[in-house]
Amino acid sequence: MKETELRLLLREMSLEEKIGQLVQLPGYFQHEGAATGPAGDMGLTQEDLRLAGSYLSIIGAEKIRKLQTEFMAQHPHHIPLLFMADIINGYRTVFPIPLAQGCTFDTEAVQEGAAIAAREAAAAGIHVTFSPMADLVRDARWGRVMESTGEDPYLNGQMAAAMVRGYQGDNPKKKGKIAACLKHFAGYGAPEGGRDYNNVELSPRTLLEDHLPAYQEAVDAGCEVVMASFNTLDRVPSAANEWLFREVLRKKMGFSGMVISDWNALQELLAHGIAADQREAAFIALRAGVDMDMTSPIYTRNLKQLVEEGRVPEAWIDESAWRVLTLKNKLGLFERPFKDADEEDEKALLLSDAHRQAARDCAEKSFVLLKNEEQMLPLQGDEAAFIGPYVGSPYLNGAWSIFADDQDTVTVKAALSRHPKTKKAPTAPGCPINDPDQPVMGFQQPVAQDNLEPETALNEAVSIAKSAQKVVLCLGEHRECTGEAASRGDLTLPKCQLRLLEAVAAVNENIIVVLFGGRPMDIRPLKEKAKAILAAWLPGTEGGNAVVRTLLGESNPSGRLSMCFPYCVGQVPIHYNHLNTGRPYHGDCHAGRFGSKYQDIPNEPLYPFGFGLSYTAFSYSPVRLSADRMTKQGSLTASVTITNTGTCPGTETVQLYLRDLAASVARPVRMLKGFRKVALAPGESREVSFTVTEDMLRFYDLSMRYVSEPGDFEIFLGPDSQTQNKARFTLE
Ligand code: GLC
Repeated sequence: MKETELRLLLREMSLEEKIGQLVQLPGYFQHEGAATGPAGDMGLTQEDLRLAGSYLSIIGAEKIRKLQTEFMAQHPHHIPLLFMADIINGYRTVFPIPLAQGCTFDTEAVQEGAAIAAREAAAAGIHVTFSPMADLVRDARWGRVMESTGEDPYLNGQMAAAMVRGYQGDNPKKKGKIAACLKHFAGYGAPEGGRDYNNVELSPRTLLEDHLPAYQEAVDAGCEVVMASFNTLDRVPSAANEWLFREVLRKKMGFSGMVISDWNALQELLAHGIAADQREAAFIALRAGVDMDMTSPIYTRNLKQLVEEGRVPEAWIDESAWRVLTLKNKLGLFERPFKDADEEDEKALLLSDAHRQAARDCAEKSFVLLKNEEQMLPLQGDEAAFIGPYVGSPYLNGAWSIFADDQDTVTVKAALSRHPKTKKAPTAPGCPINDPDQPVMGFQQPVAQDNLEPETALNEAVSIAKSAQKVVLCLGEHRECTGEAASRGDLTLPKCQLRLLEAVAAVNENIIVVLFGGRPMDIRPLKEKAKAILAAWLPGTEGGNAVVRTLLGESNPSGRLSMCFPYCVGQVPIHYNHLNTGRPYHGDCHAGRFGSKYQDIPNEPLYPFGFGLSYTAFSYSPVRLSADRMTKQGSLTASVTITNTGTCPGTETVQLYLRDLAASVARPVRMLKGFRKVALAPGESREVSFTVTEDMLRFYDLSMRYVSEPGDFEIFLGPDSQTQNKARFTLE
């Protein structure tokens, strides 16, 4: 529809119709969709159905075509519904969780995964996905770290932009494309205590320097929608934060699309204590610039009266309704209200071999080899027993894979049985995933307990461990231990799994651990007892195949940590790009006193950001700079030569970090500013160069101006965030 026609439509719509466009209904109004958040009575009625603008969490070409047809027939201006859903890491073909995708350091693989998710979701009738989640995370107690791509602003920005490109392509109207919704704006990943929905305390400078850059990359990539987060920022809930949305998101960051609240967040303004009643909640949310109310009764119940009383200018309603209509128009829904909803396409696309292959490739690229002593890995195949609750578990999808079917998942056990080298491998669960006395709540019901008899299961595992040359222990947290509302105060593995580890280690010293789960955990016991550790995260539909291929060396792990593994929960929040303090301390925590340290644990994480091993080895030459001085108008080149010094092909991720040694405000000890994946054959060398430009040196100075300052900088080129391979230059 031409813009002039759209303007005319808006003018012809009644006030009730315009308000209706600002309302998103929960899918379970039409079916038992996944209800996130308090699934209680939202206070919405069937009458609210008549004029609604959107539905959440309804899927399926047949169902959506039918609902769209019926809805448009009864709507006064036959305005199509917008169907939105959480396609976080795949629709039916499930990819690794975003935290694992961050570990790929491969924006092309991540973009391809998003494009596949879009193709499948579009065929199922979905128009918008609530992804990418670009929240910066530094606290593994927060369950939603699984949805982020990690602790670094630059990596998160690259990944968020790649996902937007994958979902939307160059035009979301095109077949197989859907609109992307950036979330959760802003700063949701830094809740106090790591407790979901809790207050967020960020200085303006930390918000601007650390949290906004990734959102900015998604906005610059053209995401069509932004979601307001649940949290308070400076004691103002995002859904009521006029400064955040009208000044920062729209004026400063240049976003012109539609803003949607999070689930029932407008109603929650009353619980926040900044709205005395629903009328006030409606007023402050619309004033803040929240265009669409996700699943609460606030807009639909109160805006009409507020306009008629003159409390809310109708212009506010028009502004938000315009953004909703514009999004529908950008998706071509006025001409093609079903867009790509097509049952034949669904059958052809969902879980296709090509999609499964892409998911497997992405999973393999996401695995991080944390330890590999005595060349425990790769396996030959017949020398190992496979023990642990994740050998047979189908729960390899992340908690947000709500439209997938666990039946489609290839378990480790199934992959072992299909591979000629491992089809006779002995297997045993050894113990349940969760401690029986620690029930885990799923989205809507407690997670079913494995019905194992503990002693029998343990004895069976020990007996096969005794007679095997090596033992692969498949351990980890249940997927429902991460995701929304899944914060945990204890990052250790379930006790039953630690007991299994001890029992197996008592009879076999050659232990390889494959670690599953949605967050970095306290894995000190694994580091102590295992000779090899592979972090597999929650690898998705093809997880079992990807794990077995990697263990057998058919895939050489190349993942690098997108979020560090803390030494223990006492360290969190912890991140590599920290400030130096006036008393920096690196060393034995039991020696010395007056340093910024703990008395009982080290400052350093167990495994740092950017870290990961390979089945081969790489060496780095010293850093070479094209010059040791640079003007603001100039640039310089930083280079390093990488060599594969091992015996098999492998891929290294060369990481570029910068440090500003002295500035008008304290600057991080290093900041990721670039990375490059380099595939090398044994003995092969490659020069890798990065161009350093003045804009990479900018920051918010003492006066909050975004500038660079003359002075000395260090450039690091290395395999992870702790590299000491550096050179110095001066910005004039
Ligand atoms: C939620 C989540 C958000 C999700 C939305 C819709 O509670 O915070 O990430 O997109 O509900 O399901």
